Amino acid sequence: MNHRYEPPTNQGETVSTPVSIPVNPEPATETREWKKLTEYVAEIRGTNLRELFANQPGRSGDMTFNVGPLHVDLSKNLIDDRGLRLLGDLGRAMGLEDYRAAMFDGQHINTTEDRAVLHTALRIPVEREFSVDGQDIAADVHEVLGRMRDFAKALRSGSWQGVTGHTIKHVVNIGIGGSDLGPSMASQALRPYLTAGITPHFISNIDPADIEGTLDGLDPESTLFVISSKTFTTSETLANAHAARRWLLRSLADAGVDVEGEDAVKDITAKHFVAVSTNEEKVAEFGIDTANMFGFWDWVGGRYSVDSAIGLSFMAAIGPQDFMNFLEGFHEVDDHFRSEPIEMNVPVIMGLLGVWYADFLGAQSHAVLPYSEDLEQFPDYLQQLMMESNGKSVRLDGSAVTMPTGEIYWGKPGTNGQHAFFQLMHQGTHLIPADFIGFVNPHTDNVASDGETSMHDMLMSNFFAQTRVLAFGKTAEELREEGVSEELVAHKVMPGNRPSTTIMADKLTPKTLGALIALYEHIAFVEGVIWGINSYDQWGVELGKKQANDLLPSVSGSEHADTGDSSTDDLISFYRQHRADS
Ligand code: F6P
Repeated sequence: MNHRYEPPTNQGETVSTPVSIPVNPEPATETREWKKLTEYVAEIRGTNLRELFANQPGRSGDMTFNVGPLHVDLSKNLIDDRGLRLLGDLGRAMGLEDYRAAMFDGQHINTTEDRAVLHTALRIPVEREFSVDGQDIAADVHEVLGRMRDFAKALRSGSWQGVTGHTIKHVVNIGIGGSDLGPSMASQALRPYLTAGITPHFISNIDPADIEGTLDGLDPESTLFVISSKTFTTSETLANAHAARRWLLRSLADAGVDVEGEDAVKDITAKHFVAVSTNEEKVAEFGIDTANMFGFWDWVGGRYSVDSAIGLSFMAAIGPQDFMNFLEGFHEVDDHFRSEPIEMNVPVIMGLLGVWYADFLGAQSHAVLPYSEDLEQFPDYLQQLMMESNGKSVRLDGSAVTMPTGEIYWGKPGTNGQHAFFQLMHQGTHLIPADFIGFVNPHTDNVASDGETSMHDMLMSNFFAQTRVLAFGKTAEELREEGVSEELVAHKVMPGNRPSTTIMADKLTPKTLGALIALYEHIAFVEGVIWGINSYDQWGVELGKKQANDLLPSVSGSEHADTGDSSTDDLISFYRQHRADS
């Protein structure tokens, strides 16, 4: 039975009626809708995509939707109208619409941290009003955006200068996880928009090879560091930030700059370091003037923060106007997700399909295959977004989940992936639903000397061919008709019936990228609601961080390893014995 509560009245103008969300909904597996889907699985197993297309002549049109700048064809998924209706019913039964409203309204749906989940507020257009509990969230967001814009303009115009009067040419973001993956991925994706001569760089790993490799060859006088950390306590980020300051002082000294004394260090830090954080105290402790700090809020999860001040380095590189276009893409998808009915709502359908494949058809992973080299980091970005969000095995009330949760996301740009792992996708024994992402127009094309053959057309021919082959394959009869010798027929049969979603857009623009990210953010939300888990905490990463701190004295040799487990103790001893400086 659902216990319901009335949430506090929301002050936001965009909110009309407060919604009530199920506090402790029954597991999805206990619902009538789940049982019906369990029965329906047999129907789908008894058919295939060839038949589904043959039985529904308008299938592609029926199952293709536009969401913001994205054109999404869902027709090559292993589902029919009835299945989609049943999945929609499951969503309704799990309170999806109420949860969605609760998220947009700023209710504390992140229950274990007692926080609102309001990344959608980061892209609220300036003319809209939005307050929660008397706090003018829209004004807060636009105040920070305004400061980010001023800062980005100062860098790009050259009015912000380093300590020796050089303009800034290199902006190095130091952060990890959500404080790195978003701006790094987006800067690469929007490479053609880096027009002001500012090159963004990213340092995340505690492995010294990362900072060494990134700073190697950079001119210290024209380099600015953005220390990005929501908490400003993350050890990797703080260690890299301190290492960056050591490098800067050393390199400036080599260039003849006076780096001695507190005032000199303060002046250098002020001109070459800014911070993005929610933790003013820790930023000041590091020595960054809080006037050079760009804030955000506890209601922005790290993996949902690329469109907050965490995107500062990226904004500096692409410029404020394109950053605003990026936010517009998010917002268009937010509006669609918030208002479209379940059956017409692309993130809802895609999230429900994720549950369908994971829980009813036994899929263990989900491939994302951008046919765009510029989107190379997009699968990595989605790994954190989807797996840190939904890699949970307890429900909101702490009881164990009753079905597999959390899709394993992975992927690589086409066509490279075709020459690596596509064999397994085509003929292996795993069912791997895949999202293909492609663009109609490239930023630059390369046409062969015949004057006709475009490399982008070649790329896209592969894009269309792969989803077609995955879906429809090739039968033994077709192979025999082609004259394939009998002993090879079994080896060459392409089973087909392997599901994919095709996402296309005109061009990889800032707006398109924003829309793509928002699409997956909302997919994660939908899956989390069905699974009954909290998609917005990440307790599973804490113990490893703590133990790394606890082990450091024995790893660095100042203490003897005594963890109580012989494997770890022996491994640390082996490490110490062979460590060159031991
Ligand atoms: O890996 C855990 C995590 O907490 C992520 O959720 C977060 O994006 C990352 O660490 C970095 O955290 P912070 O921005 O506080 O440094």
